[in-house]
Amino acid sequence: MVGIAMPPPSVKPLVNYAKLGPNDLCWCGSGKKYKKCHQPRDLLTALSGAEAKAAPANPRPVRPGKVSPRRVVPDRIPKPDYALRSDGRPGSRIKDVIKNAGQIARMRTACQAARQVLELVKAAVRPGVTTDALDALAHQAYIDLGGFPSTLGYCGYPKSICTSVNEIICHGIPDDRPLEDGDIVNIDVTIYLDGMHGDCSETVAVGSIDADSQRLIEVTRRCLMAGIGAVRAGGMVRDIGQAICGVAEPLGYGVVRAFVGHGIGEQFHMDPQVPHYFDQGSTFAIKPGQTFTIEPMINQGTWKHRSWDDGWTAVTADLRRSAQHEHTILVTESGVEILTLKPGEPQPFM
Ligand code: MF3
Ligand code: CO
Ligand code: CO
Repeated sequence: MVGIAMPPPSVKPLVNYAKLGPNDLCWCGSGKKYKKCHQPRDLLTALSGAEAKAAPANPRPVRPGKVSPRRVVPDRIPKPDYALRSDGRPGSRIKDVIKNAGQIARMRTACQAARQVLELVKAAVRPGVTTDALDALAHQAYIDLGGFPSTLGYCGYPKSICTSVNEIICHGIPDDRPLEDGDIVNIDVTIYLDGMHGDCSETVAVGSIDADSQRLIEVTRRCLMAGIGAVRAGGMVRDIGQAICGVAEPLGYGVVRAFVGHGIGEQFHMDPQVPHYFDQGSTFAIKPGQTFTIEPMINQGTWKHRSWDDGWTAVTADLRRSAQHEHTILVTESGVEILTLKPGEPQPFM
């Protein structure tokens, strides 16, 4: 997503709510009894005993850093509707999801530009570089391409990319934390260009990483490809999550449920929602001309998440690592065109 498939549990990290009784005051400060406030939601995403036991302690959890002032986009760059509103809310969701030839051509342009920015940022990843420096680099690159950083101001999001380090699942906000040797970081790039959004992301290594992190990244790439390979005109969106779970779960990885892939085009997030887990109810019919993202978030441990107080950053509930890869795709009569491949990379499903 990164649409939210279920209401995000606004559980503060590191609160030991297991100690709260139903009639105690809720931890959130509402003054209500716990049972009348956050307890139902906390119970939904509480770690099972087995999950808690399996999780090794994370001695160096990522902490929020300092976020730099908002970067400016020149007036000549065309902006999406939400960028002109103070609350950053997009207009109502467009229902017609089938794109015509002209729209598809503009999607190709936006998606290739997103890829270009992602490659530029990836090349700058190394120990000592702050995620804010990566944001600055991306911000200028979008503008140089004539595009707008889709995330900037979107529902209040403050930066031009998302940078999700180690146990951060998604929506990490670039800040002054320098990347460290052994970290993994997902860079999520979205550009608004030619009236269309193009969205892609990758998790990459910072310096040299341990074998388990390497494997997590590789399995996540396999999950993305399995999900894309399950797309066919005449099929349903649920086929995608089924294929992803089929790769991840037998290997013991958790598939994140709270954040999903999404239709994309003139709007950043539109129908359909694309769960990466198996959701029997996701019967949305896949048809040629649809464009949507697939962006599985795969965890070393539990699929459950917690949210930081910044309202954006999602971390694994057991603080083990999470990786993500994202493509924007076009459904064709005979298969799938991946719109965010690197230039010259062969299309695997055409
Ligand atoms: N690029 C993210 C996605 O894949 C969107 C993040 S929305 C933000 O859908 F506001 F958090 F940036
Ligand atoms: Co996306
Ligand atoms: Co994205």
